[in-house]
Amino acid sequence: MDNLTPKKIVKILDRYIIGQDKAKKAVSIAMRNRWRRQQLSSELKEEVLPKNIIMIGPTGVGKTEIARRLSKLAQAPFIKVEASKFTEVGYVGRDVESMIRDLANLAVNIIKSEHMKKIQEKAKAMAEERILDLLLPPLKLTRSSTITEKPEGDEKSNEVKEENHQATREKIRIQLRDGKLDSRYVDLDVKERSMPFGVISNIGMEELEINLKEMMGSIMPEKSKRKKVKVPEAMSIIAQEEAGKLIDMDKVVKEAIERTEQHGIIFIDEIDKITGKSSGHGPDVSREGVQRDMLPIVEGSTVSTKHGPVKTDHILFIATGAFHASKPSDLIPELQGRFPIRVELNALGKDEFIRILQEPRNALIKQYVALIKTEGVDITFTEDAIKEIASIAAEVNERTENIGARRLHTILEKLLEDISFNAPERKNTKLSINDKYVKEKLSDIVKDEDLSRYIL
Ligand SMILES: Nc1ncnc2c1ncn2[C@@H]1O[C@H](COP(=O)(O)OP(=O)(O)OP(=O)(O)O)[C@@H](O)[C@H]1O
Ligand SMILES: [Mg+2]
Repeated sequence: MDNLTPKKIVKILDRYIIGQDKAKKAVSIAMRNRWRRQQLSSELKEEVLPKNIIMIGPTGVGKTEIARRLSKLAQAPFIKVEASKFTEVGYVGRDVESMIRDLANLAVNIIKSEHMKKIQEKAKAMAEERILDLLLPPLKLTRSSTITEKPEGDEKSNEVKEENHQATREKIRIQLRDGKLDSRYVDLDVKERSMPFGVISNIGMEELEINLKEMMGSIMPEKSKRKKVKVPEAMSIIAQEEAGKLIDMDKVVKEAIERTEQHGIIFIDEIDKITGKSSGHGPDVSREGVQRDMLPIVEGSTVSTKHGPVKTDHILFIATGAFHASKPSDLIPELQGRFPIRVELNALGKDEFIRILQEPRNALIKQYVALIKTEGVDITFTEDAIKEIASIAAEVNERTENIGARRLHTILEKLLEDISFNAPERKNTKLSINDKYVKEKLSDIVKDEDLSRYIL
């Protein structure tokens, strides 16, 4: 995080998202501010609250994509939730507090695997010893305790035995490390927890379900089962077991909660879907109620999780919404105030499409070329072909509905349908797709508005 400056963050986002510079700038500053805050004295640190962001823009212009890329890059617990999935407290469904619980769970997993990495070496060493015990059971020495008949000789032979045994053990150790015993089997007691009944499953009861599972787990006796497993597998099972014993879960949980509170980021997608009053029909699981539930969490409150209470004051929230049927001002006023930074994402046109088709690391054209190549067919696109595809996408977006870059998916799929279908029979051929081919394949559909509404 130290060297993830706003400019670097933008640069990384640039690899995947074309344009939308304002949004990239805002999120990169917000990310950097987390780091800056950590450098402050603890007194001031408490005072600096995160500046939550709302990203506003039409559908299919990269809002979710920015979130996804950011989550990979943030070395912090980061989750993405759909605002429309929540229901007001008291109704069946997920309540908003569950996002904090999810974030805390995630943090526990992150910290746990960090700790695991640290003790891996030690766990491996311990596993090696145990495997050696299995391969060469320890000597049962005949200690001459009370009987004093031949003490001298016995002592001596015991010593010799032990020396020999130790030497053999070391030999086996070398073989083990060289992988020479990889095909040998050992008997291993593998622990299994039996679950006597099917797990209750119902959305909204998940928290209960987890607790129930854990509770039952601790009541139910651990059954161990003797299994024959190959040495490498036994090694990893035992190492896992040893690591589990070495790890200090109390410490992990404490660190995880700290990390959640100080560095956590929650991305609330589709926040516009919870604006507006009841739709007028059906029992009203009020959207405004969801907003009201969200308020204390965004504002800063304490949410209890199974790992302990989590304070939400310093968690960063980034919300996004298309806001085509509503405006940010339709959110309840208190909530609007919690998202002081508003950035707009632009609608995309032909020029952006040309770049989106080929520039991002995961660009669609790259994907299709790679997919078809698996059949032994090399396809290439001429520059004019790309321009033609982009302009068709822009045109269809304008004439029917503007679904942004998603239009490129439908168009390319249609364009490459035949090639995709016939590729297996055309091994070792090269195909160049030019603008003529694109026009030929698509112009009829584009001309007919009704047809394009259905197909593209
Ligand atoms: N600016 C862009 N650069 C590169 N790819 C983009 C861009 N905008 C959209 N895409 C691509 O289009 C698809 C849809 O984008 P995304 O999921 O980000 O839309 P969105 O803005 O979240 O829309 P919605 O409001 O419908 O959720 C993704 O596959 C994404 O890769
Ligand atoms: Mg989205």
